Amino acid sequence: MKEAVGSILDFAPRKLIRPGLVLLLTQDAEQLGCAAAEVVAKQLLAKPTSVLALPTGRTPIGMYRFLAEMCRQGQISFHSATTFNLDEFVGLEPSHPGSYHTYMRRHLLDHVDADPARVHIPAGDAPCLDCECDRYESEISRAGGLDLAVLGIGENGHIGFNEPGSPLDSRTRVVALTPSSRAANAHLFACPEDVPQQAITMGVGTILEARRLLLLANGPAKADALYRALHGPIASASPASAIQLHPNVVVIADTTAAARLPEIAT
Ligand code: GLP
Repeated sequence: MKEAVGSILDFAPRKLIRPGLVLLLTQDAEQLGCAAAEVVAKQLLAKPTSVLALPTGRTPIGMYRFLAEMCRQGQISFHSATTFNLDEFVGLEPSHPGSYHTYMRRHLLDHVDADPARVHIPAGDAPCLDCECDRYESEISRAGGLDLAVLGIGENGHIGFNEPGSPLDSRTRVVALTPSSRAANAHLFACPEDVPQQAITMGVGTILEARRLLLLANGPAKADALYRALHGPIASASPASAIQLHPNVVVIADTTAAARLPEIAT
């Protein structure tokens, strides 16, 4: 990481959207993954016992690849860190190929030195889902709260699986997935009908309590959602707009996801 940290974070164009909300622009998904990994790596170096919220989706795959490489080279360690995934599908065993448990093993956990006792992913197959949501909230509190929440963004403006309409003070709970979110996740399953109808997600309110937020947006399909997140009204119709309420946010977007932002034209 000696070569990596202090590179992209230094040269990527940086726009102050408003105090406490910084946008970093990258040329493509590769640079975005590298820049996001550098933010997470710096967090781990500054506080090895950091408590992280971690996302799934296609966007963070590059970030995880860079983090795995940094860990392999001994530049960072996950050993003392605690992680909480943002969400998981309801009804899937952890070993199901479409589960976010499987995603996390494939993209991060099989490649880093994380302590399994400090890795948390909601149990979508728990016999009592409401109890599992309460347990998850308690575990986050017991860990001392989230230091850094890394977020993707859905085309419909979701964060985690907080779909449009999610209260901005919502906590970890069971939610119904929209057709758009089920379609966006269909690639994880043998056929689109296999995508579960429900998920457990960390709430918007839970996410907002993190000390820092890092939102990642890649590709033209995210341009509208990112515009609404940064410049739209703060409303449950666009859950990602809640980040405007947070005092310490970094957004990393590639140029196509940032295309609608007025800051880009200036
Ligand atoms: C899933 C996750 C979200 C994530 C979204 C974005 O729906 N539950 O947390 O933000 O994917 O996915 P992608 O990065 O593939 O666009």
